[in-house]
Amino acid sequence: MNLTRRQLGTLFGAALLTPHLETRAAAAAPAWKLMWSPEASVDGLRAFETIEDDRADSHPAGRPHIYPEGDNFRFDMHMVDRDTMTDRQRQEVTGNRTPAGYLEWNDGETWRVTYSMYIPSTLKATTSFTHIFQTKKPGTGTLPITVTSLRRVNGTQTIEHKVVEGDVLVGRTDLAPLHGRWIDVEYEIKIGDGGSGSVRWVIRSGGTTVVDAAKTGVDTFLGDRVRPKWGIYRSLGDTSGSLQDCHLLLTAMRAYKRVEGVPPVDYQAENATISQGVVESNHAGYTGTGFVNYANVAGSYVEWNVNVAEAGIVPLTFRYANGTTTNRPMDIAVNGVVVAANQAFGSTGVWTAWATTTLGVPLRAGANTIRATATTANGGPNVDKITIG
Ligand code: GCU
Ligand code: CA
Ligand code: CA
Repeated sequence: MNLTRRQLGTLFGAALLTPHLETRAAAAAPAWKLMWSPEASVDGLRAFETIEDDRADSHPAGRPHIYPEGDNFRFDMHMVDRDTMTDRQRQEVTGNRTPAGYLEWNDGETWRVTYSMYIPSTLKATTSFTHIFQTKKPGTGTLPITVTSLRRVNGTQTIEHKVVEGDVLVGRTDLAPLHGRWIDVEYEIKIGDGGSGSVRWVIRSGGTTVVDAAKTGVDTFLGDRVRPKWGIYRSLGDTSGSLQDCHLLLTAMRAYKRVEGVPPVDYQAENATISQGVVESNHAGYTGTGFVNYANVAGSYVEWNVNVAEAGIVPLTFRYANGTTTNRPMDIAVNGVVVAANQAFGSTGVWTAWATTTLGVPLRAGANTIRATATTANGGPNVDKITIG
C-alpha cells in the first residue's frame, strides 16, 4: 500500500534525538514509535491484517459491509446479517497491516492505538453484548482479551472497556452524549500474562476528556500474540429493542509501539582492555579513577565491551584530552569493523582540558566491542571514557 513518508515517519521521542551533553538525566524517557497510520482513501482495507465482511455469507446483497468512505473506514450492520453462529452479527477488521506485512503485538510489549470514531444514534447499547473493539489472540476458540462494548446498565446506554479475564471493568461512561459526533479514543495495552498486563482507555469528546481509566495487574496475554479488532460484533439477544440497521465510522487510526530510549552508560577507559598504553591520573578533570595515556605509537588501542538491549544506531561519545596542537586521529572499530577511519581527536589546548566527540555506531543486541586505535606515530589522545546512548 502507498503510505506516505509522513505516515511511515519513524517518530522516536526526543530522547533519541537530543544531542549529547555532558550532564544529562540518568535514563532516557520511553518513546512511542509510530508503526501504522493508514489512510482509508489511499490504503483502503489493505490497512488491516484480515477482513471479516459477512464471513458467513448471510447477506451478499449488502456487500461490502466494510469499506472506505472518504477518509473513514465504514462498517455497515443490517438486521438480516448473521455470523456463523446465527445468534449474533459480525462485521470486523483485524490487525495492522503495513507494506512490510502485519504488525505483531507480542508478550511483554506495550502498544498504543489512537483513532477517531463516530457512533451514530442507530448503533445503540444493548442488554446483550455489542463489542466495537476487541483485542484477541489469533485463531478461533479463545475469548477476547479486552473489549470495548456498548452495554445497557440499569436501562442506561453506556460505553465501557473491560479486561475479559477476571471480568475487570476498566472504565464506563454514558453513551448518549457521545452519539452522533466524532470522539477520540486513545488505548494502551501492556501485554502480559497473569497479572503483569495493564490497560489504559481514554475517550475525548470536543476537547473534553470523558473517561481516562487504567487498570494494572491484569491478564492481557493468552498465547501467541495479540491483535486489535474493530467493527461491530453484537448479540441478537438484546431485550431492550435497541437493534436496528446501523453503522460505525473510524478514521485517523494509528498504532504506536513503546520503545525505550537508550540510557546513557559510561565505560571508563581505565577499566577497558589496553594495548600499548598506561592508566594515569596526573592530569585533572578526568572521571572515574583516571585515563589512558596511549603510547605514542601507531596501533596503540583501548577496547571496551559494551552491552545494549536492542540493536540500533547508538550515539558513542569519547571524552578525551589532547594537550598538543596536532590532531591525534584514531580508527573506531565496532565488533571488528572500522566504522570511522581516522576519527579526529584535535587539540584541546592543555592536557587538563577534556572534550567530547560523538558519532553514531551500529550496535547489535547484547555484547559488542568498541576499539579506538591510534593511526599515527603520535599515538592517541589521553582518553577518559566512552559513553553509549
Ligand atoms: C605528555 C602528557 C601525557 C600524554 C603525552 C602525549 O607526556 O603528560 O599525558 O599522553 O604527553 O603526548 O601523548
Ligand atoms: Ca600518550
Ligand atoms: Ca576515566
